[in-house]
Amino acid sequence: MQQLIRISEVFAPHHPEILKRLGIDGAKKLGAEYFLFQHDTSVPAADEPYAIFVGWRMPVHHAWPCNPEKTVDFVEKSCLALERKFSAASPQSILVGPLIAGSPNPHYRKLAAQLRARALQLFAPLPASRDPESQDPARPTLFALLGREGLFCGLASPRECRGFHPGGSKFISRSAAHSISRAGAKIAEALHFIRLDHPPLPEQARWLELGASPGGMTAELLHRGCHVTAVDRAPMDPRIADHERLEFFPENAATFVPPRDASYDALLCDLNGDAHDSLAAVLQLLRCLRDGALIVFTLKTHKLGTLDEIVGLHQSISHRATTAGLKPVAQTHLTYNRNEFTLFWKK
Ligand SMILES: C[S@@+](CC[C@H](N)C(=O)[O-])C[C@H]1O[C@@H](n2cnc3c(N)ncnc32)[C@H](O)[C@@H]1O
Repeated sequence: MQQLIRISEVFAPHHPEILKRLGIDGAKKLGAEYFLFQHDTSVPAADEPYAIFVGWRMPVHHAWPCNPEKTVDFVEKSCLALERKFSAASPQSILVGPLIAGSPNPHYRKLAAQLRARALQLFAPLPASRDPESQDPARPTLFALLGREGLFCGLASPRECRGFHPGGSKFISRSAAHSISRAGAKIAEALHFIRLDHPPLPEQARWLELGASPGGMTAELLHRGCHVTAVDRAPMDPRIADHERLEFFPENAATFVPPRDASYDALLCDLNGDAHDSLAAVLQLLRCLRDGALIVFTLKTHKLGTLDEIVGLHQSISHRATTAGLKPVAQTHLTYNRNEFTLFWKK
């Protein structure tokens, strides 16, 4: 079977090595981040250490390698083929995206929108066609990606593909009125992503945030209605410092003692510095998290050079967290991450 995976451009110098370690031969590169290849089983396997580099993964049930710009009636012909092949399977939605997500050339974004609109006319009404956020993570959606290499489609659930949107990227504005830094988009994307594997947290959830300054992520949590207890040696941005739902402790996270009787629904750790020190700070605060609390941990890998160092650090951090009793929920390299990964655990 043909499969399509996405590996962020951040790892471009390592792409050939990552594919080799994943046991993928003869992959064809599509756009800057996608790889199309033939493989009997779904790749990568869940326990494969190099899986952490793979964002989106999709079985390709229908491919039309062509140059859409030079193909007469590309949209109509594509949609008729999709309707013939997939309408009996009753997907919950049809979602189409460009193979080059952030491209300044809007051509393929517009073509994707046209293709989706026409396909939806041909299929019987689909339950989640209005809003991608309303998809059931476990039900099949017809996902399609297109670019100058052609059209690649798969019928699979958002959970299998690791995203609610084709390619896994959700557009999140980084200039929203409440935003005070680009970090806000990371927690927004993390909370969107984790709905694949975890029910949404209540709006008024109480968050404990380690490494909060200047407050990009804090601002996003406050905007969502959450209560935040933030800890950082550095100060918070004056735009949020006096927010009524923010409690700020200008302290060392490693020795922070929360207020008596504090009980949090979630913990966010974005401390920079040594990852094992950051995890130690999280572990010493587990007692003030309620059972089932969600932990979002940014694993920083900026100072690491080789792939083996990155994978080794990820494995030792994961092992230490599970040994301390945390349950792994998910892990990913978010679109808004650079040299870091986002790990999710549950207490
Ligand atoms: C990547 S920045 C955090 C960015 C922040 N999450 C945001 O959204 O704006 C990392 C922060 O960790 C803080 N930090 C690192 N080690 C710390 C420690 N031991 N105690 C308190 N703060 C620490 C730094 O002061 C820095 O502000």
